[in-house]
Amino acid sequence: MAQSNLQINRATRLGVLGYLSIFGIVFRLGPAIFRALLFGPKDQPLKPRLRNALILHMTSSLSWQQIQATTPPSFDTYSAWTRSKGLEPVATELRGDGTVEKPDVRVMWIGEEWKQADTQSGRKKVLLYCHGGGFVIPMNKEFPPLMDHIKKSYAEKNPGYELSVGLLEYSVTPNKKYPYQLSQAVHALRHLISIGVPPSSIILGGDSCGGHLALSLISHILHPFPGLPPISLSSPLAAVLLISPCLTFFTNSQTFIENTPYDLQTGPFISRYGSLYTENTTYYTDVATGKYYGEPVAALAEWWTGLSNVVKKVGVTAGEKEVFRGDVDKWVDVMKNFKEVKDGKVGLEVVVGKGECHDEPLMDFGLSYGAEKRDTTKFVVNFVAGSV
Ligand SMILES: *[C@@H]1O[C@H](CO)[C@@H](O)[C@H](O)[C@H]1NC(C)=O
Repeated sequence: MAQSNLQINRATRLGVLGYLSIFGIVFRLGPAIFRALLFGPKDQPLKPRLRNALILHMTSSLSWQQIQATTPPSFDTYSAWTRSKGLEPVATELRGDGTVEKPDVRVMWIGEEWKQADTQSGRKKVLLYCHGGGFVIPMNKEFPPLMDHIKKSYAEKNPGYELSVGLLEYSVTPNKKYPYQLSQAVHALRHLISIGVPPSSIILGGDSCGGHLALSLISHILHPFPGLPPISLSSPLAAVLLISPCLTFFTNSQTFIENTPYDLQTGPFISRYGSLYTENTTYYTDVATGKYYGEPVAALAEWWTGLSNVVKKVGVTAGEKEVFRGDVDKWVDVMKNFKEVKDGKVGLEVVVGKGECHDEPLMDFGLSYGAEKRDTTKFVVNFVAGSV
């Protein structure tokens, strides 16, 4: 693994019993798959049905300690991928002191780091990306190839221009909780701006809880989080991309209930992960006092006032059959009726992938079920490529 003494996420080890119990969970996979086969929704094709049953069984049965013991730290996963491509890992490391005001941060590059000459040429763009995983799972191995696909597609569709993707390595919960991860994102974006990346050349993105984090960052730019450094932009960001964003940890929407049989997430799972991020923090008191750094679905349109100074366009995806769809619909409705969107000052592009479940662009690079990319994956590629 790459040498770095900045430890944002540590490798986790379990006792013998912890590993034995993982073995037990794998052993019970058979019945879970069998149930999905026999009793899963008949209008869902077999492959996604089995895939979702597999993922759901693993994530809902493993404790966070077991998840973190079986998923390497984000930087190790990134380094292994770059090496497999014959490349050297390239990371920007910001050393803090581990406090929320001064967190340690790493940005792992797919493509080259920003150079001074890039500021002059204006031909390079940056996608600053927050990976999903419930704030609990370090960056899965599907992210680097997905980002590489976005980067390569960008270059194909925009001759003469290039995109570098900066994968934010944030600390997973419960070792660090709200608002530590927000602070890490704030410091990463401030750093990019400080080295001369024009905000108009930055696309901010995230999937699932990474989408939640990306929106927290947008909220911070609009309403600086007390104690964290503010961000002032000389121009709006090019875009924000939200792939199957987690917009709330409440699991009671109508589609949540309707889509649970189809999807790879369940209510108890979301609640469990959500509480690891929010417990013993100011998360819900902030929300209750109208500060929507979390729970963006609960924010009224006024919260987003000034968004046109922060970002030029917003892209959102959801799967038709995913549990988050109702919350995404609800948020999109607020945004559609939001004055700055209605007036055309902020673009809004939305796609609901037919028959898709949660986070299918990621699945296209993991347990995919066909060479053809999902609708949401195509949307993501085109959205980023169209954000020159
Ligand atoms: C919250 O604090 C209590 C009491 O210190 C502790 O038992 C619990 O594990 C904490 N929750 C989380 C998610 O860290």
